[in-house]
Amino acid sequence: MFARTACSTLRAGARRSFATAAARAATRTTARSALAAAATKTMPQRRSIQTLDFGGTKEVVYERSDYPPAKLQEVLGKDTLAVIGYGTQGRAQALNARDNGMKVIVGVREGGHSWKLAQKDGWVPNETLFDIEPACDKGTVVMNLLSDAGQKEAWPAMKKYLTKGKTLYFSHGFGVVFADQTGIVPPKDIDVILAAPKGSGTTVRNLFLEGRGINSSVAVHQDVSGKAKERAVAIGVAVGSGYLYETTFAKEVYSDLTGERGVLMGAIQGMFQAQYEVLRAKGHTPSEAFNETVEEATQSLYPLIGANGMDWMYANCSTTAQRGALDWAPKFYKASKPVFEELYKSVETGEETRRTLDVNSRSDYRESLEKELAEIRNSEMWRAGVTVRQLRPENQKKSA
Ligand SMILES: NC(=O)c1ccc[n+]([C@@H]2O[C@H](COP(=O)([O-])OP(=O)(O)OC[C@H]3O[C@@H](n4cnc5c(N)ncnc54)[C@H](OP(=O)(O)O)[C@@H]3O)[C@@H](O)[C@H]2O)c1
Repeated sequence: MFARTACSTLRAGARRSFATAAARAATRTTARSALAAAATKTMPQRRSIQTLDFGGTKEVVYERSDYPPAKLQEVLGKDTLAVIGYGTQGRAQALNARDNGMKVIVGVREGGHSWKLAQKDGWVPNETLFDIEPACDKGTVVMNLLSDAGQKEAWPAMKKYLTKGKTLYFSHGFGVVFADQTGIVPPKDIDVILAAPKGSGTTVRNLFLEGRGINSSVAVHQDVSGKAKERAVAIGVAVGSGYLYETTFAKEVYSDLTGERGVLMGAIQGMFQAQYEVLRAKGHTPSEAFNETVEEATQSLYPLIGANGMDWMYANCSTTAQRGALDWAPKFYKASKPVFEELYKSVETGEETRRTLDVNSRSDYRESLEKELAEIRNSEMWRAGVTVRQLRPENQKKSA
């Protein structure tokens, strides 16, 4: 990383080179801006800060139609957004903000995987691409999108650049909420905000390119400027959000850690595996067990839940299936609720954070992760899945 003095001498030159880079990127940006403008045009132009009724509870929701390009410029036009980290979120958010006309620079470890990827995406060393410290120095909004374990490690180097008047941004409450473990305690004289897309970075980018936006949570941890909420929503829109739902840093991290360990990822693998093994033990073939456990779920029934809810999915199934589902749902509820309670407690007490920071900071982290993923990939159930997927009509056409 650069020393602070080196950063200061670079600053004037970097401002010039930013302009050169911007000019060079002009053609590329024109095409992207046209795309962003088209996306904006197709959006319904409704009042966007709304209080909506969610199953009987009123909540505030912000919409990106309230932040067209002119408004984004009004709120953020004087800012330099320094996106620190170029993983899936950093990459998507940096590209979207750049395409939305924001002044964006990227800060990552020089020469590493992210550095090379950023270069491929058109970020230019010493113009729009820097090591982490100089990027934090140049940014007026420091967007901390390092991995959560990386945020802990890089914090001592980053915090000295978070001077009065700057804004510190996160996409997860993790670092700040579990400050006792991460050491991330922001200075008291800066705004600290969050916009957390509810999906992977790839989805954040793809939805933006399709002219749609992802749902995100938005929160304010410190409001020194008196404008932190407006800036949080504007940045959330700039990085690709369609709708932003109000929350707090703590609520965001507790729900996120619970969701991914639970129904979104952990529980689903556990339930699939359990049902598959019972079917196999009772003599069903791998294809039958897989089709009745995974394929029908992901290809037929879950999309119906997504479209119109659980009762809609039930209504579109046979009366035999409906009867069985209605009778068995309460048994699964009873069996799993204590597990979810145990999970939430483990999140709340910081146990999940301790484990994440411990395991993800180990030097052999990537190797052991790959080993664990390979175990799932090589299990009979997911190997059966490879064959079942090959038989899908769209995959048949590809291989024909
Ligand atoms: N992924 C998601 O779906 C998602 C969704 C919503 C919010 N979030 C949040 O968004 C943030 C970023 O997540 P992500 O998934 O994009 O992260 P990620 O892919 O794990 O981020 C990796 C980035 O962190 C850098 N990094 C890792 N350890 C580092 C260290 N010790 N020092 C310096 N740089 C380091 C990597 O750089 P190198 O290439 O140099 O190693 C890379 O640029 C997190 O707070 C996450 O919780 C993620």
